[in-house]
Amino acid sequence: MPSLSRRSFTTLLGGSLAASAVDSSPAHALLPSSDSKDFDFIFFTDTHLEPERNGAKGCAMAFKHMRGIKADFAVQGGDHIFDALQVPKERSLGLFDLYDKTQQDLSLKVYHTLGNHDCVGVYANSGVALDDPLFGKKYFEEHLGKTFYSFDHKGVHFVVLDSIGITPDRGYEGRVDAAQLQWLGNDLHTMPAGRPIVVVTHIPLVTAIENYEAAPVTPPVHHGLSVANSSEVIKVFAGRNVVGVLQGHNHVNERVEWHGVPYITSGAVCGNWWQGTRMGTPEGYTVVSIRGGKLFTRYETYGFQSVDPHNT
Ligand SMILES: [Fe+2]
Repeated sequence: MPSLSRRSFTTLLGGSLAASAVDSSPAHALLPSSDSKDFDFIFFTDTHLEPERNGAKGCAMAFKHMRGIKADFAVQGGDHIFDALQVPKERSLGLFDLYDKTQQDLSLKVYHTLGNHDCVGVYANSGVALDDPLFGKKYFEEHLGKTFYSFDHKGVHFVVLDSIGITPDRGYEGRVDAAQLQWLGNDLHTMPAGRPIVVVTHIPLVTAIENYEAAPVTPPVHHGLSVANSSEVIKVFAGRNVVGVLQGHNHVNERVEWHGVPYITSGAVCGNWWQGTRMGTPEGYTVVSIRGGKLFTRYETYGFQSVDPHNT
């Protein structure tokens, strides 16, 4: 995939607002208009805060930059820190603590999404015992709240999903489990027809990421770049006015539309894990605008300069 300059990216994504404004996909055209109000919010994802590579400084820069955006709230799309999966518990908790202190600069309500790197001690080499009271998702639940939930804002319904499936061999895959699928069905069932719905997931439900680069020589052990059972989730969206699915995890800007629903993956605050661009996407975050019950996005970069660039 050819790399694009920061300016090109801003232009490309900024242009999507005008282009999308005239789009009326069949799925949306059939639904009654909504009575939602217009507002903006920030979707920032994959902060991967770490003291190394100026990662904590970069997060602070990003939060400061976000303060210049007039937004009602922010959604963190997962992977708050780097890393909780494969390090001793003390290191993970210290990173979460540093994350909390850094995020205070944002001075905005933040809704959190669970990322794979937010799960404590999953990999065996972390030395964390399976029966540790903070193992896996438990610390996130205790510290930041539920791993899946919904809320409403100005006539728009938001659903935040838990897309992390911890596997018996102490790894992870993209998965929305059966109990959550049941909850999602019930949650969306109560929505009036036409109510705009925004879905947030760390691991993408829909992405074409595997098409952009050559496949790895050794296939991964688990299905990690997207949700393995996404077809079961997408089925629940049928007949609902899902105006956008906001996704993280892969650190690239991407938009795939299926049955009138845009699946929008945002570039990462940390870019290529604080080492420049990831497949051409620089460090940044997405500003989401709700206008007339439809969803538009633009990507903002914030000027981080890697001390150890490995641009891809
Ligand atoms: Fe990530």
